[in-house]
Amino acid sequence: MSNDATHYTQTVHTPTEVLNQEAYPPLVVKTYPGAPRHPLPWPPERSGHRLGKMLADLGGITRSQWLTPLDKLPFTDSFEAIPDSDPLQWLVTRRPTPSGGARYSAEWYVIAGPDSEVPTGVHYYDPARHALVMLRAGDYRHWVASRPAATVLVQTNVFWRLAAKYGEMYYRLVCLEAGIQVAQALVVGGDQNATARLCFPDVDVTELLGLDPKEEGVHAVIELVPPVPATYGGPSLAPYPLAAGAHSSVLAQSRPGPEPLPAALVEPPAEPAEVAEVAERIRLPHAEVDLLAGTRTRHAAMRGFNGETMSMTTLATILTGYGRQQPWDLPANPVELYCVIADVTGIRPGAYRYLPDEHQLELVAEGDPRQQLREAALAALPQQGARTANVWLLPVGDGEALEERFGARWYRVQQAAGGAALHRACLAAASIGVASRIQNDVLTHRLDTWFGLEGRKRSLLVAQFGTEHPAGLRPEFRLTW
Ligand SMILES: Cc1cc2nc3c(=O)[nH]c(=O)nc-3n(C[C@H](O)[C@H](O)[C@H](O)COP(=O)(O)O)c2cc1C
Repeated sequence: MSNDATHYTQTVHTPTEVLNQEAYPPLVVKTYPGAPRHPLPWPPERSGHRLGKMLADLGGITRSQWLTPLDKLPFTDSFEAIPDSDPLQWLVTRRPTPSGGARYSAEWYVIAGPDSEVPTGVHYYDPARHALVMLRAGDYRHWVASRPAATVLVQTNVFWRLAAKYGEMYYRLVCLEAGIQVAQALVVGGDQNATARLCFPDVDVTELLGLDPKEEGVHAVIELVPPVPATYGGPSLAPYPLAAGAHSSVLAQSRPGPEPLPAALVEPPAEPAEVAEVAERIRLPHAEVDLLAGTRTRHAAMRGFNGETMSMTTLATILTGYGRQQPWDLPANPVELYCVIADVTGIRPGAYRYLPDEHQLELVAEGDPRQQLREAALAALPQQGARTANVWLLPVGDGEALEERFGARWYRVQQAAGGAALHRACLAAASIGVASRIQNDVLTHRLDTWFGLEGRKRSLLVAQFGTEHPAGLRPEFRLTW
């Protein structure tokens, strides 16, 4: 068993003390003084510049809000947290993707070839100026691409931004946020045939970007192959399935999909005593999901939820996003998709596992979900969510199966898959006007016994879903659209 990551998961469940607080600069964007800059067209959504729009949709500074320190009360539960330096108000800039404590560890780099919409070279995406900063001239795609990509994006995370707030817990958050970034990239890069890799030669890519691997981790690579002009499609070949089968088996051999996980992860979970012999299954209504639409309005609910009952169709939409397959180098279902249901029409409260292929819920534990969550929630806001959210989603990773498949990379892959699943669910929810909030101040491991998890299976993170509390909506100024 690889040990540093295992020890880390067993030891770090909450933020740890930040010893050298004053050492951290307040900046959450990088600068490269003196390096040549290539401006991207503004506003991104009107320019027809696909790459510029994609970068804004990933890491751009796209939203601003005026908040007052009173907005902090649900997080701190105390007026003591109001800063003496600026007790009245402050401007908060936000991005399309969520980040723990709005610390925005994520960065994007662009490896452009001659067919990219920007000069060939290695660039840093500067979100403050919506510009590319050229770090190297020349075509370096062969160091990062696994297929004939016109452009490759590299996702990195600056460790200290999260360490400044969460101490040792920064690494957990960094890995989760990498998954969130990847999920967003696959949605907003859909028109460029985006695919993602989480397994790649990290050291080479780190060197190419000129990063210090102790300070900034390279977590994912996104390959873009924009379509060529359309041609005449021809009639359907569906009447000739035998010929199609013979042809497609050659294609499958030419680019094999990811190996399946070892059996431990795909076996059904052990049933706790109070669950009936044959686990109860609930068939969900079919739901269409538009994750791209969700990227326009997703935000973290500021004041929790109002406690209105959720319909089964709404739940089905959220779960469809949660379980949607991704074009990436991970096997199908790298995490299991647990959820806790408190108040959804037609579904008995309890803990369930969502089975995406069957689009069904399987009961894993009965009992009062609100009580279970109250005991696990650390801060006032998740406590409020324990009372008023309808559904909590908790992806579960099996450390043993993932380590067997990915070696030392298992932890990173597991967290990324969990973060990606939750983000897809948040986008699905946003697309139908349902509010959500990812919360790391819930001790999810306290729910694992209730779920009946065994071996090295652990729940990774929680997101709460419901109708937004009317006091939660803050006027928000869209900076780009
Ligand atoms: C990995 C992760 C952990 C988070 N943990 C918490 C949390 O513990 N408590 C909380 O109130 N919000 C949490 N959030 C939500 C962020 O505070 C929120 O995403 C951020 O303030 C940006 O706002 P936005 O999501 O509206 O864009 C978390 C978000 C992420 C991605």
